[in-house]
Amino acid sequence: MSKIISQYWRLDKRPKNEIEDNCLSLHKEEIAFPEEGEILFRVIYLSLDATNRLWMGDMEELYIAPVPLGEPMYGFVLVEAIESRNDKFKKGDLAIGLATWSEYIISDGSNFTPFPKPNGFPLEAAFGVLAVAGPTAYFGLLDIGQPKAGETVVVTAAAGAVGSLVGQIAKMKGCHVVGLAGSEEKCRWLTDELGFDAAINYKKENMLEALKKHCPDGIDVHFENVGGEVLEAALTLMNLKGRIVVCGLISMYNKDMRQSGPRMFHNTIMKRLRIEGFVVLDYADRFPEAHAVLSQWMQTGRLKYRLDIAEGIESSVNSLRRLYSGANNGKMMVRYSPAPE
Ligand SMILES: NC(=O)c1ccc[n+]([C@@H]2O[C@H](COP(=O)([O-])OP(=O)(O)OC[C@H]3O[C@@H](n4cnc5c(N)ncnc54)[C@H](OP(=O)(O)O)[C@@H]3O)[C@@H](O)[C@H]2O)c1
Repeated sequence: MSKIISQYWRLDKRPKNEIEDNCLSLHKEEIAFPEEGEILFRVIYLSLDATNRLWMGDMEELYIAPVPLGEPMYGFVLVEAIESRNDKFKKGDLAIGLATWSEYIISDGSNFTPFPKPNGFPLEAAFGVLAVAGPTAYFGLLDIGQPKAGETVVVTAAAGAVGSLVGQIAKMKGCHVVGLAGSEEKCRWLTDELGFDAAINYKKENMLEALKKHCPDGIDVHFENVGGEVLEAALTLMNLKGRIVVCGLISMYNKDMRQSGPRMFHNTIMKRLRIEGFVVLDYADRFPEAHAVLSQWMQTGRLKYRLDIAEGIESSVNSLRRLYSGANNGKMMVRYSPAPE
């Protein structure tokens, strides 16, 4: 094997608010040939997830260990084994896992799961939809939200990777679906292409008034990706025995989250609400179930998706920042190297 030089991103400073230029830096290292039991992986795609910003912080209550300062940044990646001295993966196998933001990775394979080549849709879509966003939408909505036909479901960051899937699945379950998004184009996509019943441009409209208008029978399931003002508006309009699925609070990730809390919280008593947060990793054992259903919907065109793919490891940090400004248009990911034929 000829000498491989791999670039990787290192966390140098914990961001206080937005991710500043001096928080992460790009470095080079020489990759050794895998030892007995190891695999050399080439990274094809990096998934950028809003929660990556939280992993850069030092919140004690975080659900995984924060990235240590001076160490490589981590995220979900799709990789191909290019050399293997491990029975779990042979040369050419694809896998996904939580690993470093690097062009090449040497691993014993324990943090990787085999990822079969998809049938009927591209590999980039398989990774973009099935790795994180799809199972999050599927289990968050169906297991926790438990929507029933005829109920009203509201979803925030509705044109994003998770939100766009949540709204479509809720439509399949026969619900009245209202999404919130940050541009006219995103709102049009929700109603014209994905079949949402209504879309609210939260940057232009008064959220409480718009939700009242489009949810005349109140809200039964609120799927929260954003938090803050929209959560307060939803709490105001929840129906008796409503469910609030707390999937994400992206509006707070670049701030000290411990300082904020929703008003109208007393409605949890008045309306006997169930509010439940979750982390998709808790459902890892059931991912095959979600993958089977979501793949079938993708193959038949029932489930639509948008991918926003940046090129090259250099673009990783700027691509992550796009999530917090709404500049991304669909599932944000970075192509580190070409997908296999
Ligand atoms: N619990 C879990 O296990 C889990 C797993 C995956 C994702 N999540 C959560 O799901 C949410 C969506 O993540 P994603 O990966 O699918 O990203 P995404 O929705 O594709 O992208 C993030 C979107 O959030 C919206 N946004 C950003 N800042 C906002 C603000 N201040 N106010 C309102 N909207 C804002 C933007 O859309 P607009 O243009 O519409 O503003 C942006 O496009 C995040 O909160 C994430 O943490 C949770």
